[in-house]
Amino acid sequence: MKLKVAVVYGGRSGEHEVSLRSAESILNALSPDKYEVRRFLIGKEGKWNPFPILPEPGAHPDIDVIFPVLHGTFGEDGTVQGLFELADLPYVGAGVMASAVSMDKVMMKRVCREAHLPVVDWVEMAREKLDFNRAEAAFGFPVFVKPANLGSSVGISKAHNRAELEKALELAAQFDRKIVIEKAIVGRELEISVLGNREPVASAPCEIHPSREFYDYEDKYLLNEAKFDLPAQLPQKEIDAIQRLALGCYRAVECSGLARVDFLREASTGELFINEINTLPGFTSISMYPRMWEHSGIGFAELIDRLISLALERHREKKATRFAR
Ligand SMILES: Nc1ncnc2c1ncn2[C@@H]1O[C@H](COP(=O)(O)OP(=O)(O)O)[C@@H](O)[C@H]1O
Ligand SMILES: [Mg+2]
Repeated sequence: MKLKVAVVYGGRSGEHEVSLRSAESILNALSPDKYEVRRFLIGKEGKWNPFPILPEPGAHPDIDVIFPVLHGTFGEDGTVQGLFELADLPYVGAGVMASAVSMDKVMMKRVCREAHLPVVDWVEMAREKLDFNRAEAAFGFPVFVKPANLGSSVGISKAHNRAELEKALELAAQFDRKIVIEKAIVGRELEISVLGNREPVASAPCEIHPSREFYDYEDKYLLNEAKFDLPAQLPQKEIDAIQRLALGCYRAVECSGLARVDFLREASTGELFINEINTLPGFTSISMYPRMWEHSGIGFAELIDRLISLALERHREKKATRFAR
C-alpha cells in the first residue's frame, strides 16, 4: 500500500513563489512507487485548490500525512499546523508552539536566553510606541531593524545613522506590530541543518557570503550572487560548538522534524550567536537545508522519506496522550 501524501504549498505569505519552487523539488522527489501524492495549492489570497483541508478528524481518509511546504506567515508560524492538529492528521515539521515561537524573533530569543544559548542583544518596540531616541541609545550604530515575525529579509534594514534608523523603524512597523532592534555583528554568517524528533542530529555547517551589505531579499532570491562554502571552513572545535548550539536551540523551542539554524560569528571575538531558527526552511534542490544534508550523506529523496517517517512517529506518540478525563 502506498502512503498517501498531501503536499500543501503556495500560501499567503511573501514567500509564495519560494514555496512553489520548494514544492516542485519535493513533488519531483516523492517516489511514485512509495507515495500517492495529492496537491493542495493555496493561492496568494488564501484560497485552496482544489479544496481546503477540513478541521474535522476523519474528514480526509485519502490523506495519511501532510507535507506543508509553506514558508513564512500562515505556513511556518503555527497557524496551518493548528489546522492539521484539529484534523488529527500527521504533518511534517514542527508543531504549533515550536512553529510560532521560532517564527517570532523576540520569543525565540527569550527561549534561547532562558536556555543559556547565545543570541544577539536586542531591544523591542511596539509600533504604537516608536521611540527613535530609545532606539538610537540602545546600541548606537550600525543596527539591524526587523519586524518580529517575517522571513526572507522582508522589512529588514541596516541603519547606519539616525535618519536611516527612523526610516528603518517605519518600514519594519509596516510589517509587524512588534519591532526588533539588534546590534550589528561584524563577522561571518553560518547555517546548519537539523533533523529529528526526540534525538535530533545536525549536519555539517555551511558559510554564506552575501554579495550585498547583508543577506537581503535581492541577494536571497534575485541576484544569485551570494557565495556558499559547504562545508564551512572552520576548525573542528567550532563545528562542534555550532552543532551543539543548533541542537540546543532546536530543543529549547521544542522543534520536531526539521529546522535550519542560522548563526552570526563575530570576527573580533570569535563568539557565536544564534541569529534565528527556521522551521520550514527553503527546500528547493539548491536550497541550503537539503544541500547540507546531501553533504552529510543524506540525499534529497532519503531526506523526504525521513521527514515523513518523523511526522508519522510524532503523530503516533501524540495518540498516546489523553485529551480528556
Ligand atoms: N544582528 C545582525 N548582525 C549582522 N547581520 C545581521 C544581523 N541580523 C540580521 N543580519 C543580516 O540580515 C539577514 C536577514 O536577517 P534574519 O534575522 O536572518 O531575517 P530573516 O528571518 O528575514 O531571514 C541575515 O541573513 C544577515 O545577513
Ligand atoms: Mg535569515
